[in-house]
Amino acid sequence: MTPDRALADLRRDYARAGLAEADLAPTWTEQLARWFVDAAGLVEPNAVVLATATADGAPSARTVLLKACDAHGFVVFTNLTSRKGREVAENPRATLLFPWVELERQVVVEGAVEQVDRAETEAYFRSRPRGSQIGAWVSRQSQVVAGREVLEARQAELEQRFARQDVPVPDFWGGLRVVPTAVEFWQGRASRLHDRLRYRLDGPTWVVERLAP
Ligand SMILES: Cc1cc2nc3c(=O)[nH]c(=O)nc-3n(C[C@H](O)[C@H](O)[C@H](O)COP(=O)(O)O)c2cc1C
Repeated sequence: MTPDRALADLRRDYARAGLAEADLAPTWTEQLARWFVDAAGLVEPNAVVLATATADGAPSARTVLLKACDAHGFVVFTNLTSRKGREVAENPRATLLFPWVELERQVVVEGAVEQVDRAETEAYFRSRPRGSQIGAWVSRQSQVVAGREVLEARQAELEQRFARQDVPVPDFWGGLRVVPTAVEFWQGRASRLHDRLRYRLDGPTWVVERLAP
């Protein structure tokens, strides 16, 4: 491969901050809450890359929006028949990656995936704008579609169908919870000697480990 000069010369030294064991919060939830405060000024700080894989290990990734997070895990909402939905049904594991590059940070989560219960899904669906609720019905997410006009026609049809009622929650739409077994906090440092501190579930306890950058 010939390196592309313009790309090869793109580099910066990271100098904004460090992450020492002594500064780390006692739990990953608290550490993440701290970093979310710092990320508040970013565009869509809750945008997170969700990686899944088929049962035989072919990976795929896409951005989704994190909608809830606590000690039980990270919740996102999607079409359950989408590619990601089908992949987690056959291989219920995932990685989440928050690419907070402007802060010279990333957070990487590994874990098992479970479906969010129906009551929680319905509560979230009801909080969405009506247009997004209809949108959830319109799109057979990840399927090939003949053209944009097909989607717009279906949208018009569904707007009529639900004109005089609340939009019900589609049964093919719901929440996925990534229940973490590891949460890594990465902070860029000078000369590529970055700080990587990982909370990892070891049996019933969380251990903190430093990883080589
Ligand atoms: C900033 C951003 C936020 C997104 N949020 C969501 C989301 O919360 N849920 C979702 O299903 N798709 C979301 N998408 C679209 C996904 O990236 C993706 O195109 C879609 O879910 C289909 O993915 P799949 O075919 O791999 O299943 C978002 C895309 C972007 C760029």
